[in-house]
Amino acid sequence: MKSQSLGNQIIKLNSVDSTNNYTAKLVKETKISFGTVIMADFQTYGKGQRSSVWKSEKGLNLLISIYFDSSFLNSENIFFLSKAVALAIRECIEKIIGIKVYIKWPNDILINGSKIAGVLIENQWKNEKLSSSIIGIGLNVNQVIFSGEEKVISLKNLTSKLYNLNSILKSLCSSLDSQFTRLRNFEFLEIDRQYHSFLFVYNQWYNYEKNKINFKGKLIKVDSFGKMVLELENGDKESFDIKEISILK
Ligand code: BTN
Repeated sequence: MKSQSLGNQIIKLNSVDSTNNYTAKLVKETKISFGTVIMADFQTYGKGQRSSVWKSEKGLNLLISIYFDSSFLNSENIFFLSKAVALAIRECIEKIIGIKVYIKWPNDILINGSKIAGVLIENQWKNEKLSSSIIGIGLNVNQVIFSGEEKVISLKNLTSKLYNLNSILKSLCSSLDSQFTRLRNFEFLEIDRQYHSFLFVYNQWYNYEKNKINFKGKLIKVDSFGKMVLELENGDKESFDIKEISILK
């Protein structure tokens, strides 16, 4: 299938279970080309990380999935896609509001300790090789009231301004395009350098939880598989997968 520039084709939906699921269905039916963006006003079952539900009020936030040709990546460098996506969202938001934006491992986007955007990447494999990825992004734009325990924030919460979702999508596609060019040129060192420079609590002692036990650790790196490497209080270094550890608040 021919590769396309990001966002040249946008499919807009009123309501859908999940834009990621909808994209996966189109992929199965081979009815979609790379670079297509699926955008919805509302999701009845928006999917988040760690099997959570991504809730968003109708028409107020950016809910998109991008069908991406990731076949040039392999299992050793696949997490660079995640790093590049987080960097692009971070950069896009910072350009819009001019406030420092951080990345919380693995790819949450944070402002002043509150989450403004989340990413869910689902990969497709063919004969044990990566063939494509569905990049799901939820960015809180015009919603002002959020329920739930997590600290969440939107662009409107920060600036009291109302934003046009199509303009935000355009800026986001442009930031993503630049990061994807880096990725296709295998500029992994530069992506890594940038990712770590914006990483929340990087090189700082902080509180973590694993199997209901709290402990202190210093985040010294996120490796190419996406594992977080912590220095522990006894001086040991240990790496943790997303499913086994949480960063405490
Ligand atoms: C997270 O938990 O941080 C990831 C959230 C990802 C949400 C987005 S909204 C658009 C896309 N479709 C989904 O079902 N999920 C992603």
